[in-house]
Amino acid sequence: MNAADPNEVLKDEVLKDEATLQLDAHGNLRHLLTLKGLDKSLLIDILDDAQQYLTEPGELPARGRSLVGRSVANLFFEASTRTRASFDLAGKRLGADVLNLDVNTSSRKKGESILDTIYTLEAMHVDIMVVRDASAGVPAFIARHVLPHVSVLNAGESDVSHPTQGLLDILTMRQHKGSFENLAVAIVGDIRHSRVAMSASHALSALGVGELRLISPPVLAPEPDSVPGARILDNLEQGLADADVVMALRIQRERIGNLDGIPGIDEYFANYGISYESMKFAKPDAIVMHPGPMNRGIEIEGSLADGPQSVITQQVTNGVAIRMAVLDRVGNTMAPR
Ligand code: CP
Repeated sequence: MNAADPNEVLKDEVLKDEATLQLDAHGNLRHLLTLKGLDKSLLIDILDDAQQYLTEPGELPARGRSLVGRSVANLFFEASTRTRASFDLAGKRLGADVLNLDVNTSSRKKGESILDTIYTLEAMHVDIMVVRDASAGVPAFIARHVLPHVSVLNAGESDVSHPTQGLLDILTMRQHKGSFENLAVAIVGDIRHSRVAMSASHALSALGVGELRLISPPVLAPEPDSVPGARILDNLEQGLADADVVMALRIQRERIGNLDGIPGIDEYFANYGISYESMKFAKPDAIVMHPGPMNRGIEIEGSLADGPQSVITQQVTNGVAIRMAVLDRVGNTMAPR
């Protein structure tokens, strides 16, 4: 097996315990690969750290110096606006040198393997690799091959995991609803292909959420037992009944080989769209969330996304704070060079 060819090892990698790999011998976060297996106290600590990095609108953004002298590389092998921009800003606001590799003009286009790309960046003293990839297992694969002082942060992994998104989502819920024990959280849309739903579910489960409901047409439902503790529903009225938090997800068409059976736009919006009409089933003070990017008029009514119940732009703001908290934490865990 060629260790520089991830395709041969990815299937094995995803079966191994990423939750163990991401902690050092003292239980500190060395990499962030998944929220699965992270305990409640660590999740709460990260949320508390992130809260410190939030300032009021119009004020200057919070800054720190914990990454001065460190270098962060953003390696996005899939498209991104929010995650990439917020990791970029988060790294700079902590004093790091931040490199945004343009994958389309990088030597990966000439056949260079992902590990050779990583080794090249390590040789330039990059300390933190922020990785988004369409294939499952890539962040863990890289984490197993980097130097002892280097950290790997998962910025979106296939349909498996998007841990910093999960963290910013639970931070946003906590800001509006306080504790999680009595919350009913409804996540609606393409659950089967959603790394956002997976990471939110892992975090909410660890935090002891009152009830988690995953609502989708049957063709987009999660694999049975893939989300322990969640109620799987295909009826929106039942799914939203008295919910405190409603999160809409887009259909991940880029991950669906065969679109047969996927409802058309009008049918989908009528049955699964989050709208002023469907929000009548939820609690009157329910918040509306969406990880972005949104497809207005398909999974969410545009004016609802801009309305008073929506916390979607707050999720984006929280994304920078969460990524600062995570970068700061792995920076503190790193062995000195
Ligand atoms: N939520 C999210 O991951 O958005 P981007 O794809 O724009 O980064």
